[in-house]
Order: sequence, then C-alpha cells, then structure tokens
Amino acid sequence: MQARAQAIDQPKSFKSILKKAKLDHFFYRCDRKKIDPEDLAWMLERVKKYIAQYGTGSPSAIEVLSVRPQNMTEIEAFERIKKECRLEPWIDKVELVFCEWASLHTDPDWLGKAFVSLVVGTGPSPYTVSTHKISRKKDSQIPSVKTRGFKMHTGDLFVLDPTLPHSANPCTNHYGSLLVLMQVTELFGSEQEKIELFDRYPPAKDGYPDAFCS
Ligand SMILES: [Fe+2]
Repeated sequence: MQARAQAIDQPKSFKSILKKAKLDHFFYRCDRKKIDPEDLAWMLERVKKYIAQYGTGSPSAIEVLSVRPQNMTEIEAFERIKKECRLEPWIDKVELVFCEWASLHTDPDWLGKAFVSLVVGTGPSPYTVSTHKISRKKDSQIPSVKTRGFKMHTGDLFVLDPTLPHSANPCTNHYGSLLVLMQVTELFGSEQEKIELFDRYPPAKDGYPDAFCS
C-alpha cells in the first residue's frame, strides 16, 4: 500500500510519459477530428487565392500565410474547429502552412515551442509526414536514425517538436497534391509545459501505425 502511494506521489517526468506512450521522440498523431469539410473551406480558399496570385514557387517551397476568419460564417467555422481540436479559445489567427512536399529540415527558430497542426487539405493523395531522430553512440562513427511516419488525411491533428528533422511527401504521386496545414505553436520549453501539452493533445488511441508499412 505504501509503495503504491509513493508511486502516485512521484512527480511524472516528461521522458517517462513519452516512454510509457512508446514514443522515442516527440511526434505523434492525435485521434482524427470530427470536422465538417465545409468548415475548412475558407482556409483552402485563402491558399488558393494566394497561389493564383503568387504561384507555389518551387515544389519544395514551404509557404506560410497568417490568417484570421473575416466574416460570421468563417468565425463560426473557426470556433467549431478550435473546440474540436481543443485549441485555446482566445486564438483569433492561425498560420496556414502549405507545400507540395517538404524535404528533410528542422525549424531551429522554434526551439522551446511545439507545432500543433491540423490537416486542412492534401489534394488527391494523403501525405506521409515523418520525423527522424538521429543519435550517435560514443564509440561509433556511424549515426543511427529512427524514423516515424504517419499517413495524414484531412482532419488529422498532429503534434511535432519542430527541432526534430522532419519531412512531408504525398503517399502517391498525383498532379495537384498540396499539403495545407492549420498550425498553432504551443509552449514546449519547461518540463511542466511539455507535460501540459501532452495532456491537452493526447496521442491517438489506435497506436502508431507506421505510414511506410500500412
Ligand atoms: Fe518544418
């Protein structure tokens, strides 16, 4: 009985929480959100307008648009999305991040923050979003790489430490593929912030099916 009380009182460490969730690095998909595609339409429209005016640049260019809902229909749609995704109610603007594909990169400017991203659109094919954890044992010259990839469909929500190397590609090549994410950043610096983030956006209950195998 005493041992049990001790176990409960012991403060949770973020590392132990990740280990318990069978995550060796901080990237996972949440349960798919129940979002009416109509509620996403205003964001896709903004992206379409931008592309019509400026084009998409090179296929691997990652574009970012900061947007706010502008009329009552958009505001109501945004409120429903925020509620379903458990985003902070005070958020009144988001970043739309879009690309045809993203080659392997890190986002060092976002150290201490995590990305919470809702898939707003993909085009004809879902996307594989993957992260890679690179480590090197003391006595080895060869780094080891652990990769985790998820197949992302419209309505999927995922959480990512942007300092991890990550990439995104359509699962199958199709003309018209475009990954559009609605992204917010959350604090991910202190141990407490990391634990709170994990509690707020728990991983999907269906485990972690690997995009490269399914
Ligand atoms: Fe990135």
